[in-house]
Amino acid sequence: MTILVTGGAGYIGSHTCVELLQKGYEVIIADNFFNSSQDVPDRIAKISGRRPKVYELDVADGPTLERVFAENSIDAVIHFAGLKAVGESCQIPLRYYRNNLDSTLTLLETMEAHGCNKLVFSSSATVYGPKNESPYTEDMPTSATNPYGWTKVMIEQILRDYCAANKDFSAVLLRYFNPIGAHESGLLGDDPNGIPNNLMPYVARVAAGQLPKLTVFGDDYPTRDGTCLRDYLHVVDLAKGHISALEYAESHTGAEAFNLGTGDGVSVLELVNAFQKVNGVPVPYAIGGRREGDLAEVYADPTRAHEALRWTAEKTVDDMCRDAWHFICTRQAEG
Ligand code: NAD
Ligand code: UD1
Repeated sequence: MTILVTGGAGYIGSHTCVELLQKGYEVIIADNFFNSSQDVPDRIAKISGRRPKVYELDVADGPTLERVFAENSIDAVIHFAGLKAVGESCQIPLRYYRNNLDSTLTLLETMEAHGCNKLVFSSSATVYGPKNESPYTEDMPTSATNPYGWTKVMIEQILRDYCAANKDFSAVLLRYFNPIGAHESGLLGDDPNGIPNNLMPYVARVAAGQLPKLTVFGDDYPTRDGTCLRDYLHVVDLAKGHISALEYAESHTGAEAFNLGTGDGVSVLELVNAFQKVNGVPVPYAIGGRREGDLAEVYADPTRAHEALRWTAEKTVDDMCRDAWHFICTRQAEG
C-alpha cells in the first residue's frame, strides 16, 4: 500500500513515516519544510532502512499536488501538514485559516479527482474547548478558544460533511493529547525553532543549559499539587496509532473521531521531577503566573481507540523523559 504523508518531515509525521516503512508500506512525503529540516527524510531512512519518496511542495498548491497523485498510485493519505502554534495563531489568524483550511480542501479535491478515499487527519484535544470536563469522550460537543483550534474544529466538520455526501469515503479523525518524547535512536524529535512554547522541549533545553530556567505557569489550580494536569503520550505510541487508523479505514467508511491519549493526567511538577530523576540532571524552575487559556485538567478517555482501533499507549512518562533527553543530547553533539 502506498501512503501519502503530508507534513511527513514534521515532528509527528517523521515518527509515523518510520513506523509505516518498518511495517512495509510505501511512503511518499509531501512537505514544504516550513517547520522541519531538509535532513529529516535521511534520518527516517537511517532508522527504517528504507527511503521515503519526497516532494517539496505546499499542499495547498493544487497543480503541484495533482502531479503527485498523477505520478503515484496513492491508496490513502495521512494529513499532518498544518501550522500548530496556538499563540501565533492569535497574532496571524488569516495565515492559520488560509494554510490549514486551504491545504485540506485542496487535498480532498485532489483525492476525489483520483478516487482516493481514505484519510487519517491530525486533529487535537483542543477541539474539546473550555467547557467540557476531563476525561473527554469523543461524543462531547466541540469548540475552540483560538484560531488554531478553530481550524481543527472546522476541518473535522468539513470531513463529516464530505463523508455524508460520499458514502465510500473514510475519514479517521485522531484527536491527539500531548505528544512528547522522541525516537529512541536520538535521530528524530521535537526541535522547534526559537524559544519553545510547549513544556517538554522547554524542559529539555533548560536541562541542556540552553535556557536558564523553566517557569511553571501557575501552582494554584485545583489539582493534587496545584499545577496543570495533561495527558502526555510518547510520540512513537502516537505514530503507531496512525497505523491502527489506516487499518480501521480499510474496513470502515464515514467520519469517526478517536482520542489518542493514555487516559492519565500528569502534573507539570510530576513531569519535571520525572525528567530530573530518570536523566539525573537538574531542571531549575520557578513558579510563575498562570498562562492565559490554560485549563486545569486535560486528559482523554481512550476507550474508543482501545476497542475500535485496538490501540493503547504503552510507553511510560520515564520513557518519554529519557528519549527527549537523548534526542537533545544527540542534537548538541551533532553541533
Ligand atoms: P510540525 O510542525 O512538526 O509538522 C507539520 C509539518 O507540516 C511541518 O514539516 C511543516 O513544514 C509542514 N507543513 C505545514 N503546512 C504545510 C503546507 N501547507 N504544505 C506542506 N507542508 C506543510 O507539527 P507536528 O507537531 O508534527 O504536528 C502535526 C499535526 O498534528 C499538525 O496538524 C498539528 O496541528 C497536529 N497536532 C499536533 C500536536 C502536537 O502537540 N504536536 C497536538 C495536536 C495536534
Ligand atoms: C498546547 C496548546 C494546545 C496544543 C498543544 C500542542 C495552549 C493553551 N494549548 O497545549 O492547543 O494542541 O500545546 O501543541 O497553548 N507549561 C509551563 N511552562 C512552560 C510551558 C508549559 O508550566 O514553559 C505548562 C502549561 O501551563 C501546561 C503544561 O505545561 O499546563 C503543558 O503545556 P504545553 O506543552 O504548552 O501543552 P498544552 O498547553 O496542553
